[in-house]
Amino acid sequence: MPRSYLDHAATSPMPASVREAYSEALAIVGNPASVHAHGQDSGVYLEDARRRVAEALGAEPVEVTFTSGGTESINIALKGMLWHATAGNPDRNVIMLPRTEHHATLDAAMWAEARQGAELFWLPVTAEGVVTPEALEAAITEVGAHRVALVTVLLANNEVGSIADVRGLCAVAKRAGVSVHIDAVAALGQVPLHFDDWGAQLMSVSAHKIGGPVGVGALAIARDAKPEALLHGGSQQRGRSGTQDVAGAVAFAAALDYLGPVEAYAERLAEKRDRLIARVTEAVPEAVLRGSNPAGPGRLPGNAHFTFSGCQGDSLLFLLDTQGISVSVGSACQAGVQETSHVLLAMGLPEHEAIGSLRITISGDTTDEELDAFVQALPAAYEHARNAGLV
Ligand SMILES: Cc1ncc(COP(=O)(O)O)c(C=O)c1O
Repeated sequence: MPRSYLDHAATSPMPASVREAYSEALAIVGNPASVHAHGQDSGVYLEDARRRVAEALGAEPVEVTFTSGGTESINIALKGMLWHATAGNPDRNVIMLPRTEHHATLDAAMWAEARQGAELFWLPVTAEGVVTPEALEAAITEVGAHRVALVTVLLANNEVGSIADVRGLCAVAKRAGVSVHIDAVAALGQVPLHFDDWGAQLMSVSAHKIGGPVGVGALAIARDAKPEALLHGGSQQRGRSGTQDVAGAVAFAAALDYLGPVEAYAERLAEKRDRLIARVTEAVPEAVLRGSNPAGPGRLPGNAHFTFSGCQGDSLLFLLDTQGISVSVGSACQAGVQETSHVLLAMGLPEHEAIGSLRITISGDTTDEELDAFVQALPAAYEHARNAGLV
């Protein structure tokens, strides 16, 4: 049975051209920090890759620190900026964030609250799950800008695909003299990134969400931002020590090249996604699209997210899996148990609706056959899942 892979937001398979670039780069000899010719040659590959990644982020190469992925980038941003702020002023210990963030952010922030004396201020979100500039402005006024170590927001929500107005959010923060970290992991490749232009202090991305290797990511760090390091050692990069992964960086750049210009790629994805949304709501009229309206620029072009009333998303997921279709409920799985989406709950959905979630995420390589198989299998899977009911 041919399988349909419709879970690119979890991880996206590595295209042949990226595998080729990666395996060729694995043969590069030398540590890029070494002064001999081998080291210098390897450094040329690394810096070429850094330039390519910086271009995709709208940042300068000097602002790009390679990391082991989105989780590490986010941890450096949150903990590093908290430590930097509180070292100068113990009262500057507030981290502002909405409850719709990825667990990498939520858990790092809650750890900082429990162990590092951080205070968390939960920013309100709209029904689409995004923070507005007005809400941020009101929050900064309430708390006092002098107390804020960092504001952290998702550019695009990894579950429901809603895109925040980060330009507006950064403008508000800049007026108040407050630093902003953007989690752009879900947005990379699908939304044009303008790190310098937006005026953010930090931005996290990850290679495996766009067909690069797992374990490779980057953190953009503005010239004026000085996060304390999590890892100490050879100080190879700003904010991070450790020998740099040349092959991983080369493969990250190759994955960006494979996607091509973001606007054209996003247009291609959006066409497929819109056809998919129309077909799902026709096949199962009970399906409710969650997140921002796909008609505007406010939604990830590769994301379709629905709730199905009267059933559990994980029943749907298992039933579709038996038909060869890989999708996601969107939310995290903790120790083998699916959590009800904290994102949908924060958006104001009642638990019995939030529990019936299903996320379908596509790439430029998703075929019509894969989407056909999903749409054909969905009505029967829904019928069975509804009969199984809500446990
Ligand atoms: C929005 C978002 N942030 C952060 C992460 C973590 O990235 P990584 O898997 O590279 O650690 C993910 C991955 O699921 C994500 O979707």
